[in-house]
Amino acid sequence: MTDRKNSDKKPDSQIIVIFGGRGDLSMRKIVPALFTLWTQGLMPARFAVLATGRSSIDNETYRAEVSSAISSVTKQKNSDLTGEFIRSFYYTALDPADIGDYKPLAMLLEQMREELGIPGNTLFYLSVPPGLYDDIPHNLALCGLNSESDGWKRMIIEKPFGHDYQSAVSLNKLLLENWNESQIYRIDHYLGKETVQNILVTRFSNGIFEPLWNRNYVHHVEITSSESLGVEKRGSYYEETGALRDMVQNHLLHLVGFIAMEPPSSIDSTSIRNELVKVFESLRPISQEDAAKVTIRGQYTGSHVKGELISGYREEEGVDPASMTETFAAMKFYIDNWRWGGVPFYVRTGKRLPTRVTEAVIHFKPTPHYLFSGKSGCEGCNQLIIRIQPDEGILLKFGMKIPGAGFNVRNVNMDFHYSDLADGRIPEAYERLIYDCMNGDSTLYTRSDAVLAAWKFLDPVIQAWKNDHSIPVYGYPAGTWGPETADDLIEEPELTWRYPCKNLADDGIYCEL
Ligand code: BG6
Repeated sequence: MTDRKNSDKKPDSQIIVIFGGRGDLSMRKIVPALFTLWTQGLMPARFAVLATGRSSIDNETYRAEVSSAISSVTKQKNSDLTGEFIRSFYYTALDPADIGDYKPLAMLLEQMREELGIPGNTLFYLSVPPGLYDDIPHNLALCGLNSESDGWKRMIIEKPFGHDYQSAVSLNKLLLENWNESQIYRIDHYLGKETVQNILVTRFSNGIFEPLWNRNYVHHVEITSSESLGVEKRGSYYEETGALRDMVQNHLLHLVGFIAMEPPSSIDSTSIRNELVKVFESLRPISQEDAAKVTIRGQYTGSHVKGELISGYREEEGVDPASMTETFAAMKFYIDNWRWGGVPFYVRTGKRLPTRVTEAVIHFKPTPHYLFSGKSGCEGCNQLIIRIQPDEGILLKFGMKIPGAGFNVRNVNMDFHYSDLADGRIPEAYERLIYDCMNGDSTLYTRSDAVLAAWKFLDPVIQAWKNDHSIPVYGYPAGTWGPETADDLIEEPELTWRYPCKNLADDGIYCEL
């Protein structure tokens, strides 16, 4: 992993072309990330951003939109800085599916390069609906915009990459007809999160964890990513996706990969990505028949949360009133290798749960013989909780003697919060990822074999959920932790999922409730 402090380098001069330049992702994430990089001196010496979209607006109108996007995200009000930054933005109307629009794009890029003194290096950012992931790369190539004769060409593709294993194979094949793997940057913004990268640093820079990080000492691993928001304005996208494709196939499996991978031989892109793929390829296949036993799906229903009436998923805009799409997914699986043989991994994610929290919990085995009273089995076992967000940090739970007579034990916390660091600003995932792509570092981007292996693992579940109507879609009231039956996935009757925020004093975690 590159250490930003030690490796801050200015990327090559380049033009960044954003397809979907007026879209939500561009305005909420991409543009503010570029602005922050620029204020930190991490943008190229010479650069321009050319945004494209279907509507016809001029550069000045677009710049005004960029300026207000920056003010609303960074709270920077029309400052001189923003004024200077937006002068690097340009806009051109383009229908991504119409090949006729690409010749003018190529000519415009040529003209901008000449006028601004920027070489042919170009980063194409596809911030568009997945239906356009085949058209745009193909049309760019037909106009020679993939050619590296005058400078590098890179392409960032947002998730979801494919809809299932077969569609991901086809999309990959299509891309590789005109682009090299090294030009394709498949984004999973979780890999850009500091705390996700910190999993590797925690594991591989501390001698104390690695000896315990295996089947001999770990009882089970639990990963939760919960959101308090619903599907907002993305109902029609979500109808086609659901929680399994939206969160598990990418973000949560990547967390599993970082927690479970073997130490890479070095911290370069190939070594890390090789280890990640090995984890995905070792996931024990789940048959369609077993899907009913090891997975749970749910959908939020209307309810009152903090006195406010929250609509159910089926009442959301763009959602079929009889929809079977899951807004909650939980599953149990195994990684069949020497390190993890027999250790269950549990993952769950959902919308409209009580709070927004993403965390990974390593549950350690109990001591072989317990000397003190008041504890049995894994109750009160050591836990290492890696808080990905929002209260980023690491918490270790262990037993301590309660002062006084006897040997009474109580679980206490050793807690580290990123916010305690003097310069505790945690960069946004998109800042890191865009910076890396501008520099040609693909370490935190997903390689095709990893994407395919993740789809291959989940495909039988997707098929079972689609075809087997005996697998229930449990309703759960908005503001609760999903279907109660999700607890049954956890093998031992006395164990449940960890419910962050249930016991505030114990958790020391930021909670919305
Ligand atoms: C996106 C999903 O990839 O991740 C969204 O499409 C989800 O549905 C989001 O809300 C969660 O990201 P974060 O960074 O807020 O955890």
